[in-house]
Amino acid sequence: MTTKGGSHEPERPSALPTKAATADLGTLVDQLVKLGLEFAAEALPAILTRAVKEDLGAPALLEQLLRGEVERREERRVRTSLRLSGLPTGQTLGNFDFAFQPAVQRSKLDALATCAWLREKQGLLILGPPGVGKTHLAISLGVKAVECGFSVAFFRLDELLHAMRKDAEVPPTRLKGKKYMKAALVIIDEVGFDTFTREEANLFFRLVSYRYQRGSLCITSNKAIKDWPEMLAGDEIIAAAILDRLLHSCHVLNIRGRSYRLRELEESLNGRS
Ligand SMILES: Nc1ncnc2c1ncn2[C@@H]1O[C@H](COP(=O)(O)OP(=O)(O)OP(=O)(O)O)[C@@H](O)[C@H]1O
Ligand SMILES: [Mg+2]
Repeated sequence: MTTKGGSHEPERPSALPTKAATADLGTLVDQLVKLGLEFAAEALPAILTRAVKEDLGAPALLEQLLRGEVERREERRVRTSLRLSGLPTGQTLGNFDFAFQPAVQRSKLDALATCAWLREKQGLLILGPPGVGKTHLAISLGVKAVECGFSVAFFRLDELLHAMRKDAEVPPTRLKGKKYMKAALVIIDEVGFDTFTREEANLFFRLVSYRYQRGSLCITSNKAIKDWPEMLAGDEIIAAAILDRLLHSCHVLNIRGRSYRLRELEESLNGRS
């Protein structure tokens, strides 16, 4: 077929010229590798073959290539952020049995899972007796936060206090760079098992005060708020200052319910009686 101006093939903007694509494949792959588009480089031959076979247009081909690259990068970002966060694995909202724990409202958790509270730099306190799922829910929301693009740092209280004691003399300018100060969400698990020393209560105040309205804190505790002054080295003043900041703009999940750890024992005892 000829065109008015010469004898070359007419343009086919929505289809791939098979020959050219095959001929240039090696160069294209090299260029994609140089640009760091690893998925696109790997997937190009298969996508090109499919494009030719199914007569896919160039926009559809590019869309497949770029979507794959974006998805691969997102998966890698989430994997790396989860590793850096220190979040334990395996506990998600997907495997939390809401029917077992009616005190936990699914609608409330769904709202928290949108991560709007993190954008507002609000806090979250998860309170309740042993085994009701406090740590499970804190981890689940930490995972959601990572998926939403927030930096997360998960600590058990003893690990956090250890890190803060080590940094006690670090000047404020350098302290800002510490994970427990700068992460968008810091989760502190197991508050209440031990009483704080006065030094630890002061360090905890420094943390809460620095992060106030800068970033979110999620704390799990088996101690009711009224028992916090005693837990915080019996220092009413520091406890009041900490609670004032923590409870301002804070969601509270108070889980009054059965221990998931003891459910099988309970069930077997009930079965026997
Ligand atoms: N409703 C639930 N559905 C599924 N698994 C649950 C549920 N509640 C708790 N679990 C599981 O039971 C175990 C204990 O839960 P978790 O560690 O969250 O309790 P906790 O409230 O933090 O207890 P503690 O005060 O002793 O730290 C975990 O393995 C957790 O995954
Ligand atoms: Mg726990």
